Amino acid sequence: MTELAPSILAADFAALGEAVAACEAAGADRIHVDVMDNHFVPNLTLGPEAVAACRRHTRLPLEVHLMIERPDEILPAFVEAGAQLLTVHQEACPHLHRSVERIHRLGAEAGVGINPATPVSMLDVILPELQLALVMSVNPGFGGQAFIPAALDKLRALRQRIDRDRLRCRLEVDGGVGADNAAACQAAGADVLVAGTAIFRAPGGISAGVACLRERLGTRPGSGTVTPVEDVPPARRSV
Ligand code: DX5
Ligand code: ZN
Repeated sequence: MTELAPSILAADFAALGEAVAACEAAGADRIHVDVMDNHFVPNLTLGPEAVAACRRHTRLPLEVHLMIERPDEILPAFVEAGAQLLTVHQEACPHLHRSVERIHRLGAEAGVGINPATPVSMLDVILPELQLALVMSVNPGFGGQAFIPAALDKLRALRQRIDRDRLRCRLEVDGGVGADNAAACQAAGADVLVAGTAIFRAPGGISAGVACLRERLGTRPGSGTVTPVEDVPPARRSV
């Protein structure tokens, strides 16, 4: 089943609690939190406190997309805040294997993202270690940008590798995903679609946005895996 991960970057930052609760009620599968540092990308967003605040308003898994340089030192704070999965960028981590190892030692799942100009071959060696491979379909930094179609070829290539080697790694696409390209992303092999604008700025509101994407994907609401907060192993809640 293809999962939907609303990106709260497009939500009302004054009402994040309501936003994540509405996503859960609408049948989203996980919540995507975009963390930016004004160095790796030219924008500044949320930190661990915001993740902890969201944690109090939803039982959905929280995945944190770290668009930051030198993420290693701040990884524990995000796990303590209640994140289940931390995604770092290949381009931001000179010692990528070590960063992934650190995430695992904290008891979280590890993802690695690649920018539009980064070839999928940069994930060749690390892929077997990952729970998520993230293909950026916009240049990271802002919501509401146009989908870059070359991402579809990258999804297809990674899908082939994941299936060929039977890796337990989800494949995610992020940026400019909406009703016009959701089915194409799914057909190219994406397991998880991140969507900000298409969900939070949908004319009919969050539930209409989720329903519209679900319809394109042919998936039922709430078909993904929800980990109730009390079922999250302690190691994943505090380190
Ligand atoms: C971009 C972020 C995305 C973004 C998606 O840097 O990583 O998660 O918020 O937003 P839309 O769906 O509006 O492109
Ligand atoms: Zn993102």
